[in-house]
Amino acid sequence: MTTQLSALRRNLLNWFRQNKRELPWRQKRHWYTTWLSEVILQQTTVEQGLPYYHAFVERFPNVHTLAEAEEQEILHQWQGLGYYARARNLHKAARQIARQHHGRFPNDKKLALALPGIGPYTAAAILSLSYNRPYAVVDGNVTRVISRLQAIAEDIRLRSTQKIIEQHAQTLLSKKYPGAFNEAMMELGALVCTPVAPRCPVCPLSRWCLAYRQQKTDALPFKSAPPPKKRQYHWVVVYENTHRYLIRQRPEKGLLARMWEFPVWETDARQLKNTDSLSVRLSGHRISRVSGLMRHVYSHINLQYRAVLVEGSPEETPGTGTRKWVKKEEFNNYPIHKAHRHIINWLLNDQKGR
Ligand code: ADE
Repeated sequence: MTTQLSALRRNLLNWFRQNKRELPWRQKRHWYTTWLSEVILQQTTVEQGLPYYHAFVERFPNVHTLAEAEEQEILHQWQGLGYYARARNLHKAARQIARQHHGRFPNDKKLALALPGIGPYTAAAILSLSYNRPYAVVDGNVTRVISRLQAIAEDIRLRSTQKIIEQHAQTLLSKKYPGAFNEAMMELGALVCTPVAPRCPVCPLSRWCLAYRQQKTDALPFKSAPPPKKRQYHWVVVYENTHRYLIRQRPEKGLLARMWEFPVWETDARQLKNTDSLSVRLSGHRISRVSGLMRHVYSHINLQYRAVLVEGSPEETPGTGTRKWVKKEEFNNYPIHKAHRHIINWLLNDQKGR
């Protein structure tokens, strides 16, 4: 068994050396760029994450520039990636690393886990990839590789299944080259052991893969249906006054904390179909344009919304928080979340056509 384990590791590491993608954070393994890339890749694909990674490293080349930056600027760089709590935690952790750890990521799992936003995944990734510490990394790709390798049929949504997978990952891990091994497992999941149509004939692990032997790769891993998402319906009101538009900052806490947006009125599916229900609330303001239906999906919410362009200034702004009247050219100076950046596109494109 031990020799089989060594052969498996060797096969995987050889495959990785020959087939890995050239990615900027792989050129020179530094904990800072490892950290940034891992946090970005938690929520997006490599292709989508790359431009953000480049922009981030360009603007914040090291932990000190990140620690000293304004949170608003970090949110601005992050704009469009979503999960803004991750950007805020990146900032908080950078400050702690600068002040409490002499500007270096702690080479200790307990200390690493004490940093904001650093969970078991990120801690294991940074410590293994940058410090060669023997912690197995388990993300979605690795979960899939291991469920197939071991023909694990239990629901991967369950914590108990995740525990079993983590144990397998830790056993498989090369203790000599933990960083390369972890990255090879993730890369294998991304390039070969794909969710649909895995390329088993070229897989360096197929000799040991139980799902392949039992012809179950299509059925594994098993993931139960997600809980239904909450539905939300918004009228988004774009007030226009002498070529300026009203935006406001979201509260300190909760979804999209401290991001900027247009005022929002909650409504329901029926009332979003036409503007009848708006006239009372708009009390005399003229609606100059109405958008079609737009959708945005958050991790727990399905949002459907429409925008109305309205002339004048409201008697009272819905909601609280700082408000500003900004020109079209100034939208770019604010971190505005994605759903409402679609509204800006609607606003600007439509105006071109006028
Ligand atoms: N996904 C997240 N981190 C990764 C990495 N280091 N290599 C490949 N895929 C990844």
